[in-house]
Amino acid sequence: MDYKLVKSCRICGSKRLKKYLDLGNQPLPNNLITPYFPDHSKYPLQVLFCESCSLSHLSIVVNPKLMFSNYFYHSSVSKTFMKHCYELGKKIKKIVKSHIKKQDLLVIDIASNDGCLLEQFKRLGYYVIGVEPAKNLAEECKKKNISVVNEFWSDETAKRLPACDVITATNVLAHVDDISGFLKICANKLRIYTKGILVVEVPYLFNLLNKNQFDTIYHEHLSYFLFKPLKIAFEKQGLNIFKVEQPNIHGGSLRIYASPYSYPKHKSVKGIERFEKLNKLHDFLTYSKFSGNVNKVRNELVTFLKSLRSYNKKVLAYGASAKGISLLNFCEIDNSMIRYIIDDTYEKQYKQIPGSRIQIVPRNYIEREKPDYILLLAWNFMKEIVSKVKFNGKWIIPIPKVVVK
Ligand code: TYD
Repeated sequence: MDYKLVKSCRICGSKRLKKYLDLGNQPLPNNLITPYFPDHSKYPLQVLFCESCSLSHLSIVVNPKLMFSNYFYHSSVSKTFMKHCYELGKKIKKIVKSHIKKQDLLVIDIASNDGCLLEQFKRLGYYVIGVEPAKNLAEECKKKNISVVNEFWSDETAKRLPACDVITATNVLAHVDDISGFLKICANKLRIYTKGILVVEVPYLFNLLNKNQFDTIYHEHLSYFLFKPLKIAFEKQGLNIFKVEQPNIHGGSLRIYASPYSYPKHKSVKGIERFEKLNKLHDFLTYSKFSGNVNKVRNELVTFLKSLRSYNKKVLAYGASAKGISLLNFCEIDNSMIRYIIDDTYEKQYKQIPGSRIQIVPRNYIEREKPDYILLLAWNFMKEIVSKVKFNGKWIIPIPKVVVK
């Protein structure tokens, strides 16, 4: 079976799951294809709200082997993200320094991707180990002299690794079906040194709703998090959350610091609870309104692209990100509207995106094609991309609402 249905909440177990968004049937966005290769299967993409703990879930879980065995997303392509990793390393060091009186700190990074985060941690003097299931990315880590195990995070993997002071898991929890199991392994590993810290980063559902980031919904992201359900999940495993931040990465994230040890609680913990209540994030009505906004963006974007096509304007897109692919497929935008997608990731180039089958090409195609417009699919890196890409046309920014500039 390629997928299973979600029948109860993966955090609190409630069966009161209510659908609020249907993005149609879509292919797996990171499974790029080569031209002339048949297209991939499509799976329903619907989001459910747990009326008990407010976790948002996809209605299905696609077999992870189909999604994560080979992965084209390289964190290090973005300078913004590298800087973010360095800042995170410094912050953790500050906390750790005042509580763990040790020199040789070891960090384990779960889903270490191409070693982007660990490379920065190494610069800061940490010992590091990555855990990365994608073979191609684990190879990238090795090239950077980062020790890595090419596996999913599991009890067996954790037991084979040395005791550590810090575990980081950035942008991975949304991919995990068994969240309790995942956190339990982290908690057990950290208990060895008792004051060990777990740092988790997830895209924050508040931003998804507030900034209309519906394109971040795709099959790899099984859950969309608020603080409320995360707190339940962490506490179940004896992990005390002592600090919360909202870093401005990936469209706005939630960063949680937790430990089996009772660190003094920072005021940000109460603050985020108040914030969620104030913004009615535990209220289903908020979610049904969001669904209306999503359809509005789709209609505006498609109408605009169709009008450009009727005037024979040349349109490219930038950033073959998973979210971009999700947006194109949901809006049914194909290569009659967008000629090519530019992406600086070498491994993505000259492949096609599934579904809409637009070809991915390197940046020099901008000079070759001289587009009138470029649709910015990687809108989360707008500053970085717009400042380095110069052309004599206009940008179309699709999210949070369609803007041409
Ligand atoms: P990203 O938004 O990080 O991820 P996701 O796949 O989770 O939606 O993807 C950004 C894409 O944009 C990625 O394919 C790399 C690409 N990119 C460039 O090609 N050039 C750049 O300068 C930057 C910042 C990103």
